[in-house]
Parts: sequence; structure tokens; C-alpha cells
Amino acid sequence: MANRILFDHQRRKADNSDDASFYSQPRIVHHLDSAFRRKLTSLYKDRIPKNSIILDLMSSWTSHLPEDILYKKVIGHGLNLEELKQNKRLDSFWVQDLNRNQKLPLEDSSIDTCLMVAAWQYLQEPENIAEEIKRVMKPNGQIIISFSNRAFWQKSPEIWINSNDMERLNYIAAILIAQGWKSPENIIEKTSQKGILGLIGKEGDPFFSVISRK
Ligand SMILES: C[S@@+](CC[C@H](N)C(=O)[O-])C[C@H]1O[C@@H](n2cnc3c(N)ncnc32)[C@H](O)[C@@H]1O
Repeated sequence: MANRILFDHQRRKADNSDDASFYSQPRIVHHLDSAFRRKLTSLYKDRIPKNSIILDLMSSWTSHLPEDILYKKVIGHGLNLEELKQNKRLDSFWVQDLNRNQKLPLEDSSIDTCLMVAAWQYLQEPENIAEEIKRVMKPNGQIIISFSNRAFWQKSPEIWINSNDMERLNYIAAILIAQGWKSPENIIEKTSQKGILGLIGKEGDPFFSVISRK
């Protein structure tokens, strides 16, 4: 049984219609800018060992993993089958609405690294998800939860909408700690677009990650 932290009203979202219908049309677009994505891929390069079994939860047509590294296995999950079919990094995938059912169809202690990108911001039952991910992680396995300051706001619960960047980091950490994850590390960085002739251009999407281990 997960340790519940949120009040019911904090789970509410403006658009309460079925999430699956909101995501029924494939969106083969980038949700975050190239500066953010560069930072994310370089973080993955630094932090994920090559022989890892990776779970990309709430994924799409891209997993942002470094192209020159072959991992042991990459398992994907999302809400749109077409997007997942187009994701060349995935060895296998499945579709599941995590706001309806938080039980993951994965074995205990089977995953080395779990990735979530622009994803936590849509969870209405984050405590159950954090507990389930912990179940499927190997001992000392890591979770890397990354986000910026964009969202489909109508699909984000109140806790996300009514928080600033630091509060969001603290909120994720509180949920993880309450389910027994080890003390989370925060990564907070400004990013910059590439300008003309390789010079630094305008500011990119701000980068935030919470990293924790089982
Ligand atoms: C902004 S996209 C980010 C996709 C991907 N992680 C990326 O970096 O491009 C948000 C993703 O969250 C997933 N998602 C949103 N609501 C969900 C729900 N209720 N259950 C499962 N997945 C959901 C969808 O698969 C959607 O692609």
C-alpha cells in the first residue's frame, strides 16, 4: 500500500476526460526544445551504464538516449501505440493509462534505470506509481525524472499547476521518499540554444531532473 501524500483536490485536473482519447492522435513532435534535449541526452550518457535494462515510462516516438550507445534492453510505455511503434530505441512496449491503472506488467527487480520525461506532470496517483516503479527496479536501480516548464496544462493535476519549479522538485522528492526511495538528487540548469556560427544563442527550456535510487 503506497504512502499517500496528496489531498484529493490536488489530484484534480481541468480536463477530466479520458486521457487515452486526449492522446489518441499520434504527436510526432518534440515537446521540449533542442537545448533541453541536448542536456537530457548528455545526462543519460553520463548516468546510465551501457549494460542497463531501461524502462522509458510515459514515452513517445523518442527516448532521448544517446545514439552511439547500445543498451541491453529498452522497454517503452506510453498512451499512443503509433508513437511507440515509431520509437526506434524500444525493444518492446505497451500502452496503459497510468491514471486508471498503476500496476506495471513487469517483473519484480527487473529494471536498472527508469526514465520519465515531461511525464510526472500528468500523474494523478503518483504515490502508487512511485511504489510500483520501486517494485520493478533492481536493488540500487535508479529513476531519472526530467521536466521543464511546459505542459498540456489542462491535463496536469492541481499540485503541478499550483507549484513553481522548486516546489515541483520538492513534490516529486516527497513522493519518492514516502515510498522508500533514497534521498533524491536535484539537477537544475539553464540551457541555451545554439546560435549562429556555434555561438551561444537565446535561453532554452529550463532543465530539471530528480534522480533517486531504490
Ligand atoms: C509531453 S509527452 C512526453 C513524451 C516523451 N516522454 C517525450 O519526452 O517526448 C507526455 C506523455 O505522457 C504520457 N501520458 C500522459 N498521460 C498519461 C496517462 N494517463 N497514462 C500513461 N501515460 C500518459 C503520454 O504517453 C505522452 O506521450
